[in-house]
Amino acid sequence: MAGELDVQGAKNSILPLLSGTVLCQGESVLHNCPNLSDADAACRILNCLGCKCTRVNKSITVNSELLLNTDVPEELMREMRSSIVFLGAILGRTRQCKLTFPGGCELGPRPIDLHLMALRKMGVEIKNESGYLECSAPKGIHGAHISLSLPSVGATENIILAAVTAKGTTEIHNAAREPEITDLADFLNKCGARINGAGSGTVIIEGVEKLGGAEHKVIPDRIVAATYLCCAAITRGEIILKNADFSHISALVPVFEQMGCKIYGYNSDGEDRIYINARKPLRAPHKIITTWHPGFPTDAQPMFMALASTLKGTSVFEETIFDNRFRHADELMRLGAKISVNKTIAVVEGVNRLSGADVKATDLRGGAALVTAALFAEGTSRISGISHIDRGYDDLVGNLKKIGADINNA
Ligand code: UD1
Repeated sequence: MAGELDVQGAKNSILPLLSGTVLCQGESVLHNCPNLSDADAACRILNCLGCKCTRVNKSITVNSELLLNTDVPEELMREMRSSIVFLGAILGRTRQCKLTFPGGCELGPRPIDLHLMALRKMGVEIKNESGYLECSAPKGIHGAHISLSLPSVGATENIILAAVTAKGTTEIHNAAREPEITDLADFLNKCGARINGAGSGTVIIEGVEKLGGAEHKVIPDRIVAATYLCCAAITRGEIILKNADFSHISALVPVFEQMGCKIYGYNSDGEDRIYINARKPLRAPHKIITTWHPGFPTDAQPMFMALASTLKGTSVFEETIFDNRFRHADELMRLGAKISVNKTIAVVEGVNRLSGADVKATDLRGGAALVTAALFAEGTSRISGISHIDRGYDDLVGNLKKIGADINNA
């Protein structure tokens, strides 16, 4: 495969950004918003709360002047697990909120104990009534010193959202350092918040009276960038990603280099780009251990496993974030990959050829891994369960076609 592609805006930014607009007593405009079913679900939640949310192409305008409702109905919560990030925002605006407890998901249990521990420290009373979380802060929300036992992305976002209009200062220690946290803080600061240290392990938020609206461009999606880079590498191709931030994929670069790819970031006409060339014979990477940012992202693990399946040598993957994140391995094996899984370790023996088969996506990135592998497989592969892929990829099929893939929507 060869050619140039634009990288979409980040799914994991757009969701907390849309929830952040709940705090703004005015109009916000978010640019570079990908067309994703998860973003649509977030807009439905905003409309249900009484905000006016409209999309024109890649820009979403949210008017949150009036918030009429503080409850998120169960069917909307179920559409998207990460809707829990609305909790901090609704509480920050109204001091009360009712929504359903998000259950586990296809990757394993997804507890929110850290979110709740932090909100309680900030003065929020939380009752768990038959699957519903009933939260209120009759005496207001106040700043607190919060140390997270692990740097949860969602907990860090919820604390920031609840803290921006709290009384006093909140300090988050062992905060998540993902670029999406920085993006959320940048947007909220444009709206009048006072957040310092986002992107580092300590975030300090000084509460302000209220927020207005702002305009903001969503950062590029580093996991989508990783997917296209893996697609280029598995087809031994050469591509340029436009509107892509090389600094956000720094943990992936040494792995691509170890495989024998040439990869670098550069700027052209004021636009950040990433170049990859995988035309030389590639070899298996050694060990890939997923961890928190800035380490190797768990969300990129499935696509790298697909790629490693086709490289000479043995690769070992260790998954440290989620309990059940190798479900794509069975489906990759249907295509001819040689993978053995033992709990959180997967050992991949590279093979020379994969062959097309009918396979099923069981989660978002697992689905992307199957598409990646199918590009290398001889013959035709049919991938079902693509609604998982639509949660996070804006026109994956159209984009892969642009760089030469023979791929179609059924
Ligand atoms: C976010 C990303 C997701 C990514 C994940 C880890 C979004 C919308 N999603 O998910 O794509 O895979 O980060 O990089 O941004 N945990 C607890 N207690 C808590 C919270 C988390 O034990 O209160 C554990 C979870 O079991 C999980 C791990 O921490 O194993 C990761 O959770 P977290 O960082 O919160 O991920 P999400 O925000 O859900």
